Amino acid sequence: MKEKIESIRRAIGEGMLQVHDRKQLFELKMQFLGKTGEISALSKGMRDIPPEQRPEAGKLVGEIRTWAEEQFAAREEQLKTEELSARYASERVDVTMPARFAGTGSVHPVSLVRQELIDIFAGMGFDIYEGPEIEQDYYNFQALNIPADHPARDMQDTFFIGGEYLLRSQTSSGQIRVMENKKPPIKVLSPGRVYRSDSDATHSPMFHQMEGLVVDRGITLNDLKGCLDEFARRMFDEGTKTRLRPSYFPFTEPSVEVDLSCCNCGGKGCRVCKGTGWIEVLGAGVVNRRVLENCGIDPDEYTGFAFGMGLERIAMIKYGITDIRLLFEGDVRFLRQFKG
Ligand code: PHE
Repeated sequence: MKEKIESIRRAIGEGMLQVHDRKQLFELKMQFLGKTGEISALSKGMRDIPPEQRPEAGKLVGEIRTWAEEQFAAREEQLKTEELSARYASERVDVTMPARFAGTGSVHPVSLVRQELIDIFAGMGFDIYEGPEIEQDYYNFQALNIPADHPARDMQDTFFIGGEYLLRSQTSSGQIRVMENKKPPIKVLSPGRVYRSDSDATHSPMFHQMEGLVVDRGITLNDLKGCLDEFARRMFDEGTKTRLRPSYFPFTEPSVEVDLSCCNCGGKGCRVCKGTGWIEVLGAGVVNRRVLENCGIDPDEYTGFAFGMGLERIAMIKYGITDIRLLFEGDVRFLRQFKG
C-alpha cells in the first residue's frame, strides 16, 4: 500500500511538470481524483484489506487525497495567474506611444481677415448687421440712388433671379436695411457674401465684402479718413498711410477710392503696388442725401459716411496672394499655410 501511494505521489509530481494549461491540469486531476481515478481506486480497494490494517491504510489514503487536492488547487491558482498576466501582456496599451496625428484644420484666410476686421471696427464701437444674400432690386439698387436705367448698374454684373429678386452685388444693400429700422446715431459693420458675373485671376463670381456705415450729426469726410487711418494701421502696420482719390458711387457724394501705402515696399514702389507705392483697397464716401431721404432720415440734420471693401482683396494684399482662385479651390496645401 505504502509503495502504491508513493508511486502515485511521484506520478502526480511528474505529471504536474507536463501540465501547461488548465485543461491539461483537469485531465491529470481526473486521472487520480476522478471517479475512476487511481486514488479513488485505492479507496475502493479498502475492502480487500484485512480489517486490522484498515485504519492505518485509510489514514494513508486520506493523506494522499488531501495532498493531491492541495497540489491541484495550488497549480490551478498558479495557472490562472499566469493566464491572466499573459492576457494583460497581449492586450497592453502603450500610453507613452506617440499618438497618431489627427489633422486639425486651419482657419480660412478670408475668415481670418473677416474676424480681424470685426475686431478692429468693433473696437471703434461698430455693431454687426448681416443682411440677406437674395435681395430685392430696391435695396441693392433703387434705394441706393441707382434707378432702373442708371449706367452705374453696369459696374456690377448682377445675377438676376426673377421678378425683383437678385443675388446682392454689394453689401451696401445692408445700409438701407439698417437705416430703415434704426434712427441715428448709427454705426454698423455689415460683412457678407456678394455675387457678380465676373471671373478671372482677381475676380470671383462670389466674394465677400464688408460694409461700414456711420450716420450722426456732423459726420464729415474727415471722420471717414480718421476711421480708415485707424483701420489701415491696425490691419497692416503702424506706418500705413491712406490716400483718398475722387471717385463716383451713386450712393455717396463726394465719393472716394481709398489707397493704402504699399505694405510690401512701404511706398517706394514694387511689384505688388505696380511701382506706384499705393494699393487700392476700398470705395467710400459721404452718404448721398438722397439715400438718407429714402430711409426717412433728414439730411439737413444728419450726415454720414460709408465704405465697402472686398475681403478677398484685403487677404490677397495682406498675405501676398496673387490669384483669387486659390481662395476658393480648397487646396489644403495652400490653406495649411494660414494659422488659426
Ligand atoms: N458698394 C461699393 C462697391 O461694391 C463700395 C462702396 C461702399 C462705395 C460704400 C461707397 C460706399 O463697389
